[in-house]
Amino acid sequence: MPHHQNTPEPASEGPAPELFTWEFATDPYPAYAWLREHSPVHRTTLPSGVEAWLVTRYADARQALADQRLSKDPAHHSGSAHAKGRTGIPGERKADLMTHLLNIDPPDHTRLRRLVSKAFTPRTVAEFAPRVQELTDRLIDAFLEKGEADLIHDFAFPLPIYAICDLLGVPREDQDDFRDWAGMMIRHGGGPRGGVARSVKKMRDYLAELIHRKREEPGDDLISGLIRASDHGEHLTENEAAAMAFILLFAGFETTVNLIGNGVYALLRNPEQRERLQRALGEGDTELLATGVEELLRYDGPVELATWRYATEALTLGGRDIGAGDPVLVVLAAADRDPARFDDPDTLDLSRRDNQHLGYGHGIHYCLGAPLARLEGQTAIATLLRRLPDLRLAAEPDDLRWRGGLIMRGLRTLPVQFGAE
Ligand code: HEM
Repeated sequence: MPHHQNTPEPASEGPAPELFTWEFATDPYPAYAWLREHSPVHRTTLPSGVEAWLVTRYADARQALADQRLSKDPAHHSGSAHAKGRTGIPGERKADLMTHLLNIDPPDHTRLRRLVSKAFTPRTVAEFAPRVQELTDRLIDAFLEKGEADLIHDFAFPLPIYAICDLLGVPREDQDDFRDWAGMMIRHGGGPRGGVARSVKKMRDYLAELIHRKREEPGDDLISGLIRASDHGEHLTENEAAAMAFILLFAGFETTVNLIGNGVYALLRNPEQRERLQRALGEGDTELLATGVEELLRYDGPVELATWRYATEALTLGGRDIGAGDPVLVVLAAADRDPARFDDPDTLDLSRRDNQHLGYGHGIHYCLGAPLARLEGQTAIATLLRRLPDLRLAAEPDDLRWRGGLIMRGLRTLPVQFGAE
């Protein structure tokens, strides 16, 4: 494995690439390659004006994700008041719903994570497989006859929201409200604009009411499971339960939209890999599907930057001195293309074995929903390839637009065409 020396200061070879432009949103990987090589822990000014560090090498990224001196609590941010609470989740700042797993440190994090892990087990997810398959087929049925679709709007977007609503125990008749609120957040994410704040408030009121109802009449769902788990010993306040439901919805929504969107797009751009997967699936072999979805996460994952961390004390990372209170942003997309860790990192290889990517994070905040994400990603991709075998892109790659924003990476639309079944 090649080894990089730490670079204490940015090297002087050429100017640093411009970050956060339109070109960068379309393809950030060349800029990340430059940063990994010349300024692996890089101080930059974000579009919001906030100063932050970007960590782009795999080894540094993994170390930072596990470093307890990097807090998730925005109260540690030394920056201006307007930056406080920036977690990538739009809506009200410091709203009660924001006191969730991704914004807290141990010991509260440990207690809440233990509680939710009791209710949200790999078994819960496995039992959910037939429902995900049914949802996937229903969404495809709706556009199959048309011969064309926007795979983001018609497929990747509704699938995870209905899946999580079902899992949480939101009744079917209310799920379209959730879809609309979530749509508002994803379209206008990043700022506390009127519509977003209203959607967050509606969601909060609805969840509070739902939790109340589930206390009275528990069911076979995750919210009832959370309430049950908290009744056996450890305590969960009403607000913590609402914040937990919210983060499950939020963390499991746009991520999965992007896993399906970025994943299908990568397959359409790499026809040999796609044919290989289609052949394997046709022969009943699902191993390539499993390694393939992991590779799609590494190659162009949904989460470009991990959620914010703040240094609780002065520390050194990758040879750079980070000040107490500085925001540190771990660039998962850059770490997962690091040639020091992955052979031929810019090549999509669905059968890649040595693939400990950071797409789901690392350490105590490692993605709680990874088993559900894998189930949804594998079901969605396998079913699309099976039912729409000649699926093809109906736009020039240069005409596709990527959603801006710091944390997530995903397409706004993915126009496709296909023949009949
Ligand atoms: C945390 C990625 C789907 C729930 C995370 C983190 C990443 C991630 C990178 C860590 C963030 C950090 O350390 O800053 C993904 C990806 C997904 C996905 C790529 C889809 C492909 C889901 C789903 C759910 C979920 C479906 C649940 C329904 C969570 C929760 C956390 C989390 C609750 C916070 C865990 C903690 O702080 O202890 N996810 N996620 N995720 N994810 Fe996911």
